[in-house]
Parts: sequence; structure tokens; C-alpha cells
Amino acid sequence: MLSKSFVSLFTLVIAVTAAPAKRASCSNGRTARNPECCVWYDVLDDIQQNLFEGGNQEAHESLRLTFHDAIAISLNLTLHGQFGGGGADGSIMAFSQIETATVANTGVDEIVELQRPFALKHNVSFGDFIQFAGAVGLSNCVGAPRLQFLAGRSNISQPAPDGLIPEPKDSVDSILLRMADAGFNAAETVDLLISHTVAGQEHIDPTVAGTPLDSTPSTFDAQFFVETLLDGTLFPGTGPNLGEVESPLAGEFRLQSDFVLARDPRTACEWQSFVIDRDLMALKFQVVMAKMAVLGQNPFTLTDCSEVIPTPPPAPVDIRIAHLPAGKTLKDIQHSCPFAPFPLLIADPGPATSVAPM
Ligand code: HEM
Ligand SMILES: *[C@@H]1O[C@H](CO)[C@@H](O)[C@H](O)[C@H]1NC(C)=O
Ligand SMILES: *[C@@H]1O[C@H](CO)[C@@H](O)[C@H](O)[C@H]1NC(C)=O
Ligand SMILES: *[C@@H]1O[C@H](CO)[C@@H](O)[C@H](O)[C@H]1NC(C)=O
Repeated sequence: MLSKSFVSLFTLVIAVTAAPAKRASCSNGRTARNPECCVWYDVLDDIQQNLFEGGNQEAHESLRLTFHDAIAISLNLTLHGQFGGGGADGSIMAFSQIETATVANTGVDEIVELQRPFALKHNVSFGDFIQFAGAVGLSNCVGAPRLQFLAGRSNISQPAPDGLIPEPKDSVDSILLRMADAGFNAAETVDLLISHTVAGQEHIDPTVAGTPLDSTPSTFDAQFFVETLLDGTLFPGTGPNLGEVESPLAGEFRLQSDFVLARDPRTACEWQSFVIDRDLMALKFQVVMAKMAVLGQNPFTLTDCSEVIPTPPPAPVDIRIAHLPAGKTLKDIQHSCPFAPFPLLIADPGPATSVAPM
């Protein structure tokens, strides 16, 4: 009796897994594993055409916004009986008057205001929209990983407590404490900063708005991890500004937080490791972003709509291993990982690299 029902259960399992998956039909002949994902194809078409097409500035800002919404969650506050923030809950958009008025969120109001009408038009939650737009914006960068996208975050949130977003003037101690309080260890903090390989600044020194943080701000390569270790020699604008330190290349901007994290023994080895392994870097970013995107959420109640995220343009072979900018030698590297030598990188030929605005 027992074995008979076991056998029929077994056959049932086979039958269920062998049946061809019925896919929901969405707009323009596309299909999705889950009908709840269809709306995201429409959001995709709309934002690729109307948010990201006028250049890639909005793509960079959208990636930054995923962090500023999600990281506002604090175990410490919760343990003190206070509201610790809802993580990736869209509160930065729902309560933008409150949240974007803080120093750490300087400039973030612009992308929030640009994004909000799209979320309202497609009737999707603010928390979902922010993570989706970040993943789609990133997919436009050469060599970027295709990020996971889970849909179904509640649209109900409360304003996040102030002080939970790291600032470029913060010490390594303070950044690592804050990140640990949100659930990330030192290596994962570095993994999140892989984002700065496709980044620039607008507001630390507005006189040189659009100065990139590495020489290749649209390419998902490891140049950021080499260039942040070079000796600083100049300020690209009116520096020093609060949170800024000297950069090694004309036209390049260096955040103080990137400078200190690149050199601290707790973070320097993870930092340096990407220099010879860009593909691992891309994979680690995919993994850590999947974790960040569901902070404060129960991922098991969300629907996997990752198939809607476009496949990014592949990384060309010549970016697999980073190089020194033209005019620099290994002597200019401030080697900081105590456990591994700095790899023998080759310098680009030609006159000293200077970096064009984004
Ligand atoms: C220690 C943590 C971090 C600090 C202190 C920090 C700080 C900053 C600052 C000051 C800027 C320049 C903003 C401006 O002036 O417009 C910036 C840009 C940016 N950040 Fe971060 N960041 C951190 C982590 C992250 C993380 C985890 C992400 C994403 C996962 C991220 C994504 C970006 C992007 C994409 C930009 C470029 C924005 C643009 O070009 O408009 N950052 N970051
Ligand atoms: C933890 O939260 C308490 C209560 O708000 C605060 O006084 C304390 O500074 C926080 N500690 C850290 C490490 O953030
Ligand atoms: C989400 O909340 C905002 C108010 O914060 C509201 O305007 C919007 O319509 C809501 N969207 C959905 C999908 O419920
Ligand atoms: C928008 O979404 C909300 C929450 O999911 C739902 O209650 C409402 O009926 C939707 N409105 C429209 C116009 O589809």
C-alpha cells in the first residue's frame, strides 16, 4: 500500500516536471514564465526609450538609486526598538521630500523625480521599479552582468531613518560598521563598490559635473580597481571638496571613501583581486546585487522576472585583464594588499591618459 502510493506520487512528479511549461503571452509577441512579469516588458520598452535614451547619465543614477533605497535598513536601530528602515521598499520615492533632503542623498532627487512618472504610469510598486530600472540601466553597459530581478515588493513603506547611507567623507570603520549593520561583510562591501566602475560625480564638485570615477565609465571593466590605487596627483576641479581626494588622471574624480577602502587591510585584497579577473568581478556584482535588491523583503514571496532584463553587450577580450593608464608605471601603484603582490600590469601606449567627461 505504502509503496504503491509512493510509486504513484513518483509518477505524478515526473508528469508535472515533464509537461511543457505554459508561458504567458505578453505584448509584442513576448512571453513570460509568470503572467505577473508581462507588465515589466512594457516598463522595459518605455524606460529604454524614454528614460535611458537621452544618454547614459540616467542609467548611472538609476544604479546608484538602487543602493540609496535598499541600504536604509538597520539591525542596530531595530534592536534599540526603533524603526530600522524597510530596505529596498521604494521609500526613497514615496517620501522623497524627506529622504532626498539629506546630505548623503544630494542629487538623488533628480533621478527619483524622473523615475516616478514611469512607476505611476505602469502601476508598479516604487520598490520594484527602482530595482528594475537599476538592472535595466546597467544592462546597457558593455560587459555588465545581467542582474536578477524579483517583482512583488509592497508599495507601502515608511520614511527611512536618516544617517543610514554611507558618505564619501566617512572612515573605513564607519562604512564597514554601517554595511555590517545592513548585512554586508567587508568583502561584500567591496563587491558593491564594483558599481563605481560605471560611475561619475555631479555634486561633490559641481564645477566639474560628469567627471568619471575611472577612465572607462560606460564599460564594466576593472579599471576602477587599478586607478583608485594609483598615487593621487591632482584635483580635476576646485578641490579639495568634502569627500574628495587627489586623483591620478586629468579629468578623473576620486572619492575619499574609495581611496581609503582601496588601501585598508580589511578590504584591499578583495579590491586588488578584480584587477586580473574581470569576469569574477562581474559575477560577484551579480551575486551581491541580488542580495541588496531584497533587503527588507521576503524573496520567497516575490516572483522571478529576471528573464525581462536584457542581456548586456558582452565584454570584449581586451578588457578581461586591466591595464595601467598610459604614462603610469607599477611604481605609481600604492600596493595595499598584505597577502598578494600587485599583478604585473601593462601600461597603455601613448601620451598620458586624460579622462573625458561622461
Ligand atoms: C561606501 C559606499 C558608497 C559611497 C560612500 C558612495 C558615494 C558616491 C558618491 C559621493 C557618488 C557621486 C554622486 C554625485 O556627486 O553625483 C557616487 C556615485 C555613484 N555611486 Fe556610489 N557610493 C557608495 C556605494 C555605492 C553602491 C553600493 C552603489 C550601487 C550598487 C553605488 C553606485 C553609484 C553609481 C552608479 C554612481 C554614479 C552616479 C552618476 O554617475 O550619476 N555606489 N557614489
Ligand atoms: C545604534 O542605535 C543607537 C540608537 O539609535 C544609536 O545611539 C547608536 O549610535 C547606534 N550604533 C551604531 C553603531 O550605529
Ligand atoms: C504607490 O504609492 C504611491 C504613494 O506613495 C501612490 O501614488 C502610487 O499610486 C502607488 N502605486 C501602486 C502601484 O500602488
Ligand atoms: C494598481 O495596482 C494596485 C495595487 O497592486 C491595484 O489595487 C489597482 O487596482 C491597480 N490599478 C489599476 C488602474 O490597474
